[in-house]
Amino acid sequence: MGGSGRDSPRFNCANDGLRENLRRLVPNTLPPRMPVIFSGIQPTGTKHLGNYIGAIRQYVEGQDRGDPAIFCIVDLHAITNPYDPAELRRSVYDLTALLVASGLDPARCVLFRQSDVKEHTELCWLLASVTATGELNRMHQFRDKSVAQRELVSSGLLFYPVLQAADVLAYRAHEVPVGEDQREHLELMRDVARRFNSRFGEELLVVPDHRIPVVGARIMDLQNPDRKMSTTGGSEEGTVYVLDEPKVIEKKIKRAVTDADDPPRIAKDPAKPGVSNLIDIMAVARGVSPEQVVADLAQARGYGDLKAATAEAVIAMLAPVKVRYEELRADEAALEQILASGAEKARSIAAQTLADVRRVMALGPPPS
Ligand code: TYM
Repeated sequence: MGGSGRDSPRFNCANDGLRENLRRLVPNTLPPRMPVIFSGIQPTGTKHLGNYIGAIRQYVEGQDRGDPAIFCIVDLHAITNPYDPAELRRSVYDLTALLVASGLDPARCVLFRQSDVKEHTELCWLLASVTATGELNRMHQFRDKSVAQRELVSSGLLFYPVLQAADVLAYRAHEVPVGEDQREHLELMRDVARRFNSRFGEELLVVPDHRIPVVGARIMDLQNPDRKMSTTGGSEEGTVYVLDEPKVIEKKIKRAVTDADDPPRIAKDPAKPGVSNLIDIMAVARGVSPEQVVADLAQARGYGDLKAATAEAVIAMLAPVKVRYEELRADEAALEQILASGAEKARSIAAQTLADVRRVMALGPPPS
């Protein structure tokens, strides 16, 4: 993975220009050198290569840069779609084991289950007072999911981004590592924080930056490279799961859709989404730039070579995660212990923000 600094070109941050201006004008308003990092991930489905490359890798990279680095398994978001209650608990443990197997160390970060910290739901309601329904109705993910939904479209689905804002703002996080598909939710969160501060007259909430990787921010479905890899909207054949057997990974990548260019051309090009996707995947898996991947494959005979090399690199990246996962998943009591102690740390931070929010909103008894 390799650590990278706050201004690393491997990531796009929302506030880069603003930060530079602030640095010159009012140095004391800058976030501390060690940012508070927060991200959330849903315990739904089996996590795929898109989640791993776009998000989980970044969490691992962030855990030593964050003070603290906080990662939340968002079970309350998962219930906004129809779900099986018996499966949800299992999925939370699955994901806890997967995150630790991927390199998150509960001693170096805060890892917890969202529903264990009630401050998230309380803040969600309080932030609803400064969130317009029009904004929520316009969110792409809400529109896509509500159209795809054949059963009840829950109001939770509409409120999803408000809860997501509460997740981050409760910790006054500076940085939010996510994939490209979360950009819109992050923008909304920033607007909500600014609106809250201006409505209640104090710079109480921190306006967070997104942190989106430059390469791998949007991993595409291997069968439909015009669509993002996704557990809900993608194809089974085109989705590589982190815990897939190496043979399955190889098969899926070798069957990836490329294009009919003759002679085949291995290049990053918007007109070649399948090939570009494989180049990005291989670049991340090998820890090199896409340009380096293209240079390394200059002598390749065709797309078969690109696919074989990509499969090899992805298997090498994911195989150790799978081995470690199997060991960790067997001990649910230990996983529960990790989540419980994470929740305790999370609660102590979120409770302070909530006390401030309640004070400025004049909720509860006056402060003594
Ligand atoms: P979830 O679980 O759907 O996605 C987890 C992360 O995976 C990223 N991702 C991708 N990255 C690259 N390529 C893809 N094809 C791809 N598919 C998914 C997502 O961008 C995400 O970072 N709404 C969040 C959960 C959340 C959250 C938060 C995130 C709840 N509260 C607070 C940040 C901060 C989500 O999409 O989870």
